[in-house]
Amino acid sequence: MLRESEAQDRAAFVELFASPEVRTYLGGPRPRDELERAVPAVPGRRPGLFVIDLHGAMIGTVTLGRRDAERPGHLRPEAGEAELGYMFLPEAWGHGYATEACAAALGWFADALPGEPVVLCTQTANDRSLRLAAKLGFTEVKRFEEYGAEQWFGMWSSPTSSG
Ligand SMILES: CC(C)(COP(=O)(O)OP(=O)(O)OC[C@H]1O[C@@H](n2cnc3c(N)ncnc32)[C@H](O)[C@@H]1OP(=O)(O)O)[C@@H](O)C(=O)NCCC(=O)NCCS
Repeated sequence: MLRESEAQDRAAFVELFASPEVRTYLGGPRPRDELERAVPAVPGRRPGLFVIDLHGAMIGTVTLGRRDAERPGHLRPEAGEAELGYMFLPEAWGHGYATEACAAALGWFADALPGEPVVLCTQTANDRSLRLAAKLGFTEVKRFEEYGAEQWFGMWSSPTSSG
């Protein structure tokens, strides 16, 4: 189930950002004590952030935001494209949950903003993420270096926009 965040999700948010596995290609884990101080009582309450709930417990997040104009990788000069992001707790990997959740979020987006493309950026070393992007129907636009690593930049268009 995709839903907005609740106070009961706080421990899972801390775990996502403290996990060395989850953060391998996202700049590394953050210290747990720092997170315990900084994470608000109800984390992640913002438009475009979906908590993924399996049998009543949070297993990850899927986000749709606007890509920062300052970062490299854009489809158009004015930037601000919709960008997909995803993070799941390691025990939830390998079951197809991320594919199912991201496909649902993209379906919602295609209804809300028909014809609007979605972009995605992930390190080329992040095999799982690249496989997920391909399964969702993202295609490569370009590759570039950022944060000392090669990045894969891809785009997705809803079926309605391509006919
Ligand atoms: C990227 C990430 C979300 C991918 O998670 P995932 O569980 O591998 O992704 P999927 O939901 O697509 O699951 C696919 C796996 O489930 C398996 N699977 C099992 N049952 C399945 C089912 N019923 N349906 C589909 N797939 C199933 C597939 O075989 C596949 O396993 P494989 O990769 O070993 O072949 C996860 O690795 C993650 O959170 N990484 C850390 C955060 C991160 O790097 N994010 C990228 C930010 S850009």
